[in-house]
Amino acid sequence: MSDVKIGFYGHVRQYHNLKAEIDKAISEVLESGSYVMGPKVGQFEKELAAYCNMKEAVGNNSGTDALLLALVAWGIGPGDEVITTSNTFFATAEAVWLAGATPVFVDIDPATCNIDTGLIEAAISPRTKAIIPVHLYGQCAKMRDIATIAKKHNLLVLEDNAQALGARGDDFGIGELSDAVATSFIIQKNLGCFGDGGALITNDPDLATKIRRLRNHGSLKRSFHSIGYNSRLDDIHAAVLSVKLKQLDKWNDHRRSIAKLYDQGLKDTSLKLPAALPGYRHIYHLYIVETPKRDALQAYLQEQGITALTHYPIAIHQQEGYPWGHEARICGSLEHTERSAACVLSLPMYPELTPEEAQIAIEAIRAWDKAQG
Ligand SMILES: Cc1ncc(COP(=O)(O)O)c(C=O)c1O
Repeated sequence: MSDVKIGFYGHVRQYHNLKAEIDKAISEVLESGSYVMGPKVGQFEKELAAYCNMKEAVGNNSGTDALLLALVAWGIGPGDEVITTSNTFFATAEAVWLAGATPVFVDIDPATCNIDTGLIEAAISPRTKAIIPVHLYGQCAKMRDIATIAKKHNLLVLEDNAQALGARGDDFGIGELSDAVATSFIIQKNLGCFGDGGALITNDPDLATKIRRLRNHGSLKRSFHSIGYNSRLDDIHAAVLSVKLKQLDKWNDHRRSIAKLYDQGLKDTSLKLPAALPGYRHIYHLYIVETPKRDALQAYLQEQGITALTHYPIAIHQQEGYPWGHEARICGSLEHTERSAACVLSLPMYPELTPEEAQIAIEAIRAWDKAQG
């Protein structure tokens, strides 16, 4: 058994690095008596909107609800279709189902694992209302293509940005070419709180007001309600996120430098490495490699004390029971999605991972690869 222990996440290291500031922020909330919809939420929302170069950010309890609330605010529901991919975390399509609408899955571009924008137009029907591109693994989908198609067919675009806060396209920023952006602050994201959280970010003030109402039982004013949800971001989480947001660009830069080490160290192996599009700022929420022997590599690394995980080994349309009595539509073949589900492995990647640890992971992978012959 190996003495090496390289975990998949650096949550506790991250807390220790910022302990004094985080403890102070939490303590301020505790002493303030304002724990729900208090000033820390408002402050963080302003900081997040400014960071994203957008007008409004509305905190809520998860990335899933950020997606759902946007669809509900737009009146997207039964009878409507939303185009997205099946190679994503389940919540992307789940939000569409929860809104009562029908997800329509198109295949991914095998180079980036993001939606293949060349397949979107063929998937549009008279029922199509929106597109949800996912910026998977930390790299933006091709938003210029998506915006052109959306404009031509009068569709809304909701960016699922749970994995790419701080990423950019070559000549566009996230949020610049869409109607709204949903993000997640669950702890394992690039900007994570100590639990669940999310936000809807938009330049549309009417949408922001609708989301503010929907997240709080349909209420903008005490005792006045219409139907909504209980989906608020807590002040403790908001205070922690304000502390961490200041570190995000530095953390993302570190992820990019670890990615460079992996790129260099693994380039002459049999593994397929992630493709970063020219000019894009990929922020490597996950660093994924591909091999048909994925499960064997994962098991080998675990024996060496190195944890690698799969994202996502069962595509949404492959889940047992799919679509659970709801409507869903698959447009064309999902062969690249299915190959990705079978072959992708995520290597350790977090801002607290040291270059030495990345090097140990590289050496282990190289040794495994060599033994494959
Ligand atoms: C691509 C994607 N979409 C949506 C979500 C949902 O976010 P949350 O877990 O905060 O509900 C996640 C992460 O969990 C995600 O990775």
